[in-house]
Amino acid sequence: AWLHYEGQLSNKGLAKWADCFRSIICIPGERGGVLNTAIGELASGIEALTGNKPEVTDAASAVDRKRCIAAGIIGAMPLDGLAISLAEAEQLPDEGFIIRTIDNGDLCSIAIAGRSERGLMYGVFHFLRLLQTEGIGENGFNVVEQPAFRLRMLNQWDNMDGSVERGYAGRSIFYRNYELLARSPRIKDYARLLASVGINGIAINNVNVHRQETKLITERYLPDVARVADTFRAYGIRLYLSVNFAGPLELGELDTADPLDPRVQAWWKERANEVYSYVPDFGGFLVKADSENRPGPFTYGRDHADGANMLADALAPYGGIVLWRCFVYNCQQDWRDRSTDRAKAAYDHFRPLDGRFRDNVILQIKNGPMDFQVREPVSPLFGAMPNTNHMMEFQVTQEYTGQQRHVCFLVPQWKEVLDFDTRLKGEGTRVKDLAAGKVHPYTHCGVTAVSNIGDDDNWTGHHLAQSNLYGYGRLMWNPDLEAEAIAEEWTRQTFGGDAAVVETITGWLMESWGTYESYTAPLGVGWMVTPHYHYGPDVDGYEYSKWGTYHFADWKGIGVDRTQATGTGYTAQYEAENARVYENLATCPDELLLFFHHVPYIHKLHSGKTVIQHIYDTHFEGVQRVEAQLASWLSLEGKIDEERFRHVTGRAKEQLENAKLWRDVINTYFYRKSGISDEQGRTIY
Ligand code: GCU
Repeated sequence: AWLHYEGQLSNKGLAKWADCFRSIICIPGERGGVLNTAIGELASGIEALTGNKPEVTDAASAVDRKRCIAAGIIGAMPLDGLAISLAEAEQLPDEGFIIRTIDNGDLCSIAIAGRSERGLMYGVFHFLRLLQTEGIGENGFNVVEQPAFRLRMLNQWDNMDGSVERGYAGRSIFYRNYELLARSPRIKDYARLLASVGINGIAINNVNVHRQETKLITERYLPDVARVADTFRAYGIRLYLSVNFAGPLELGELDTADPLDPRVQAWWKERANEVYSYVPDFGGFLVKADSENRPGPFTYGRDHADGANMLADALAPYGGIVLWRCFVYNCQQDWRDRSTDRAKAAYDHFRPLDGRFRDNVILQIKNGPMDFQVREPVSPLFGAMPNTNHMMEFQVTQEYTGQQRHVCFLVPQWKEVLDFDTRLKGEGTRVKDLAAGKVHPYTHCGVTAVSNIGDDDNWTGHHLAQSNLYGYGRLMWNPDLEAEAIAEEWTRQTFGGDAAVVETITGWLMESWGTYESYTAPLGVGWMVTPHYHYGPDVDGYEYSKWGTYHFADWKGIGVDRTQATGTGYTAQYEAENARVYENLATCPDELLLFFHHVPYIHKLHSGKTVIQHIYDTHFEGVQRVEAQLASWLSLEGKIDEERFRHVTGRAKEQLENAKLWRDVINTYFYRKSGISDEQGRTIY
């Protein structure tokens, strides 16, 4: 993936610094600790980049502190001669770092100083990334970095039978036949990939906790869980587990899972105690409760706060936290019932509970009110509970965005979400400020996402889908980075620095989300996918279903009326100014029009086109864009190794065929419904 380094250091400007790469001075840390990981990564990275193995030595025995890389932890390393002042360094939070070059004529050196072991490791990976992407110029480096969000997590949706829910890259790297692959080198490689982009937490089993997975918190599996935790710990990543709310029942130990029953409370305390005896720095429990038929507190007439707090009390003595998901809605809806709106559910369930959750509970809220569609508005719940910790959940796995058969670089989508102005505390209350804990005084907050990896050789099914995993980490470290800069960085590290390669792949990534949207889901409508699988078109697949996912297309128009005036009233969940923008046809942005309004096909968009003509045009254009992307990819033949070239070519051809199917199914469906012809007379069936 992006850590292959081989020969990627250019000679440009290098001469001056070349000597520094011969030795690394560092006071060694604990065996298996993050500091040693960092130094190991630094040494092997430099060796791969330059072809020379640096000598690693500790400061005391070092004769020449010049002409070296001095790496260490602020407070524990001598700073003299390194152009870093203690006062400056102490401003940094725990995970921050400084990279600075010291140019004393022909006696140059490089300092990498972390505020903590983790900070140092992030500094090392950043340093190596800079060498890979830009090389080291005449002026060297002067970098000070710190992460925007405290929790930067991933959720594996891996099952112990080895399958991965919504996984498009092979089988699980964590499990096979109901056993943990606790010693698998793949897990260590994964930890490296994640640490290199700043991920610091991982939940290693599916949120849908089935029978066997319920036992992950018992003696049966804890020794193996502890081994996996060791692997991640060495890379500064904390381990979390998804738990089954009905655990005491499922394991046949109690006849209830009622959170207010003292026996249930004692049971969870016992479990927590045992987990911590194996994994002393265990992160906590991730919980999907009363959601899509999973058990939860509702069975006992209790609410989400009762359920989450019970688990929180069990974890509190050890510093653990509960990540309680807000993906709660009625999945047994009657499609004839026009008053129930799934989009409203999370807010309606949770908002009234503000202030009732323990301090070590975090509500995990999906980025949109529905379910990771290609386009949705931002969830109005995010930030709407000032007294309850929040984290936002994204989806790196491409469930609804082409399933790693289509290219769909999601960083631009996530960036739009993070930049969204909720206006909850006046103009400029952006999602990224809320997630950073800058608006409400959250004790815990941050971001998480569903991972997209499996045991395929290339990790992600499609080579280019690696960019989403990389991009997630980079954007969540610094949400102010430009999506294009991230795409380019990834391309350079993964495919090398050839100008045509970088330009073509970066360009493809950057327009891929818009392209995917154009041939699939116009104007925010969503859900016109094959039920259950969520790949390929099926316009009415979910239209008469129990899942609450409708487009309401008839012969006159399409869209879901979510206004307060005539619809479900969903718009009222937003702050007043945003609510007005969405409520009003004149101000509602085109790309979300059909999410908020039911309009005639001849309704004129801000773009000047009618809705029906927009549907036709975007679907024809979307396919043309895929054709153009494929053509420019093919022009790279000979500049990319054959294996990856063939692989990506194969996927791109499949994407094109599937895009044509989308185009023809969607256009034909709406032509037949509306009876309105395409202005340009193109082929519609
Ligand atoms: C989606 C997805 C499910 C998943 C669920 C969740 O509905 O299709 O596979 O379990 O989200 O987030 O819990």
